[in-house]
Amino acid sequence: MRRRMGRVFVSRSLPGDALARLGAAHDLVVGPGSEDEGGPERAGVRGEAFARAAAELDAIVAVLTDRVDSALLARAPRLRVVANVAVGVDNVDLGACRARGVVVTNTPGVLTEATADLAFGLLLAAARRIAEGDRIVRGRGGFPPWTPTFLLGKRVHGATLGIVGLGRIGQAVARRARGFGMHVLYAQRAPLPAHVERALGASCVPLDDLFARADFVSLHCPLTDETRHLVNADRLARMRPGAVLVNVARGGCVDEVALAAALVRGPIGAAGLDVYEHEPRVDPALLALDNVVLAPHIGSAERPTREAMAGLAADNVLAVLAGKPPLTPVG
Ligand code: GLV
Repeated sequence: MRRRMGRVFVSRSLPGDALARLGAAHDLVVGPGSEDEGGPERAGVRGEAFARAAAELDAIVAVLTDRVDSALLARAPRLRVVANVAVGVDNVDLGACRARGVVVTNTPGVLTEATADLAFGLLLAAARRIAEGDRIVRGRGGFPPWTPTFLLGKRVHGATLGIVGLGRIGQAVARRARGFGMHVLYAQRAPLPAHVERALGASCVPLDDLFARADFVSLHCPLTDETRHLVNADRLARMRPGAVLVNVARGGCVDEVALAAALVRGPIGAAGLDVYEHEPRVDPALLALDNVVLAPHIGSAERPTREAMAGLAADNVLAVLAGKPPLTPVG
C-alpha cells in the first residue's frame, strides 16, 4: 500500500468533517471515543491504539484530558505537531515540545461566545439558585408552596462584575454583563487600550481590589504557574458578603479546599463551576453543598463550536504536515 503523507493520531472521535478531511490526506488512527469504551486506561494518549501507533506518528490531535509530556514525546520521535482541541494548553508541556521542535496549536476564537454563554449561565444559576430550585421541584416534597421569602437569591441587574483576564472570553462576558446593566471591573497585567475599555464599559483595577469590590467574580485567565490558586483563602476572605465566584477557566486557578470552606463559612455566598482542580474528581466537600452549581466542563459544548474547534485543529495539522505555518500556534 502506498504510504500516505503522514500518520495522525486523533485522541477522540470528533464532530463535523475534521476526521474526513484529515483522513483524505493522511493515515488516521482514532482512539476510543470515550473513557466509557474500555476505561480511562484505553482512552486518548493513554490507550493501546496510541501505544501501537506512537513510533510512526507525525501529528497528534489531543483533547484537554490528554497529558502531552516529555515521556509521551519520547515515544513519538517523528512527531511534528500537537493540535489541542481546546483553547487552554495546560495539558501540554510546551517547553518539552519546543525542545523537540514540535509545534503546538490550540483553538482560540471559535469557542469564545459559547464559553461566555456558559459563564453567564453559571452566574445566573448560582445567583438565582436555579439548580437548587430544580432539585427541590424534583425532590420528594415536590413543588413547594409559594411564599414571599422562599429561595431568595442575589440580584444580578446593576451588580458589579469583576472579570479576571479580559481576553477574548472575558470581553464576551463583559458584553453580556452590559446587557444586564452590570458595572464591569477587570484585572490583568496589561490594561487594555482606553477605547476598548470604553466600548466594554470596563475599568481596570488591581486584582485584590477586584476581589474586594465585585459582587460577582468570573475567571477567564489561563492556568499558569502565576495563576495557580489565584483564588485562595486570602482572596476569598476579601470578597463581599454573598459574592458569587464563577469559574469556566481551569480548576487549578482556585484552591478548591479553601473555596469549599468559604462556601460554608462565608463571606462568599455561592459559586458556579465548570472546571475542577483535580478533574474529573470533584471535591466531595463541594458535592455536599447546595450553594454551588457544578457543570461537567461543558464551556464549549455546543455543536457548531465543537465542530469549529475540531475543524481548526484539523486545519492546523494539515498546514504543518504540508510544510505551511500553523493557523493558531501557541507560544
Ligand atoms: C476548554 O476548556 C478549552 O480550553 O477549550
